[in-house]
Amino acid sequence: MKLKSILLLGIVLLAVVVSLWMILQQPRWTEEEIITLRNLWIGSLPALPPDPSNVFADDPQSALLGQKLFFDTRFSSSNQVSCATCHKPELMFTDGLPLSIGVGTTDRKSMTIIGTAYSPWQFWDGRKDSQWAQALAPLESVVEHGGTRMQYAHLIANHYQEEYEAIFGPLPDFSDPVRFPAIAGPVDDPDAQAAWEGMTSTDRDLVTQVFVNMGKAIAAYERLILPAPSRFDRYVEALLKNDEQTMKSAMTSDEVAGLKLFIGRADCIQCHNGPLLTNNDFHNTGVPTRAGLPLDNGRAMGVMKVLNDEFNCLSQWSDAEEMDCSELRFVVSEGEQLEAAFKPSTLRNIAETAPYMHAGQFATLEEVLRHYNHPPLSPAGHNELEPLGLTNREMAQIIAFLNTLSGGVDAPPELLKAPLNN
Ligand code: HEC
Ligand code: HEC
Repeated sequence: MKLKSILLLGIVLLAVVVSLWMILQQPRWTEEEIITLRNLWIGSLPALPPDPSNVFADDPQSALLGQKLFFDTRFSSSNQVSCATCHKPELMFTDGLPLSIGVGTTDRKSMTIIGTAYSPWQFWDGRKDSQWAQALAPLESVVEHGGTRMQYAHLIANHYQEEYEAIFGPLPDFSDPVRFPAIAGPVDDPDAQAAWEGMTSTDRDLVTQVFVNMGKAIAAYERLILPAPSRFDRYVEALLKNDEQTMKSAMTSDEVAGLKLFIGRADCIQCHNGPLLTNNDFHNTGVPTRAGLPLDNGRAMGVMKVLNDEFNCLSQWSDAEEMDCSELRFVVSEGEQLEAAFKPSTLRNIAETAPYMHAGQFATLEEVLRHYNHPPLSPAGHNELEPLGLTNREMAQIIAFLNTLSGGVDAPPELLKAPLNN
């Protein structure tokens, strides 16, 4: 009898110790932290707002044409470069290179397309204010697609006339080679430039309209490429439902510790916040200039470019009313804080998109964390960061957390490759 009660007491004590230990293992989140986590959760991502500058943004036919154009290498000077050359679906729409390579080598690293329709500013320096305007830049860049808008208008007429007309209405007749040469456009190539200047302004506008519509179709496609929930999102969802079992299976204790640092002592959410883990603003974080490249002053130049962009929200090619363009009209265009400032990219799928930063300066997340732990002054002489004083273990925990943000793309598989009848 006595032995039995001792045994029973022992079992009860053991149960108490075990459950206490389990409770201590579970990190407790404060009310305030739970609000923060809910803001980072993909469930807080609102429906994609309409793009008033692009009336074709949500037209399914437009998206299908855009998908074809995205993967079509004929739209380049070499017949070998498409958007997908540098935005490969299997690499989360990046290219794995420090500096992207098209018909030449660029001076920046490719960025993911996933979820970027939410961003008011495109590119590391935000020099475009819509995805349709963004898409037109690589097409005319001498190091990316290397082609001209006249060449592209002929390609549309030769290969996509029916689809184009079903969306945008009648295509002009570009068959007169005197009025519409094979190659012409306002690009960095003297012959193409001269041919462009030789055209009448009415004819140039006819060509530019087709070019603009290509961008609007591509943007409609990109709007369908959205992030899928990751383990982190399962964790937060379970936390909000008080479902400790699912929380435990979604993230390990090291990953949770990394998350705590991310939103706490390391204060990464100062810039990487919201469900896409970016505030879409511009910050100088002291990232060094890449060897061999000139000083990149980032947003300082980017803001000038977007204000003067032929295709911005206030341009004749935009479908927006002036009042729809408040991002552009009220943009911060001056100040030291814009020097060498860049857009914090989304951290969703970040473990899959090495190397890192605007010119691929860091090969691994370990290098990124070492940078944040001891941020140097930027090449422009300042930066917004404070040293963090993290231990190696803590840095590893933050990296472990970043790995829980890989959820891939939320889009049907047929959108992630060239359509069959390209
Ligand atoms: C030669 C490689 C290359 C090609 C081809 C290319 N891109 Fe990019 N893309 C990049 C690089 C590099 C950046 C960042 C450039 C910068 O900030 O100056 C970028 C940035 C972007 C962004 C900005 C994302 C963001 O978060 O701001 C989008 C969107 C995009 N590209 C879409 C496209 C589309 C659409 C095409 C085809 C019309 C295309 N790209 C062709 C390399 C390329
Ligand atoms: C003051 C704003 C700010 C803070 C704080 C900040 N970041 Fe960033 N982050 C940025 C900016 C801006 C970039 C892009 C910089 C560049 O390319 O030069 C970036 C880029 C990154 C990248 C690389 C993204 C890519 O696609 O190449 C990672 C990873 C990253 N940050 C993680 C973190 C982590 C982890 C923390 C906390 C330790 C943190 N960031 C804190 C602004 C910030």
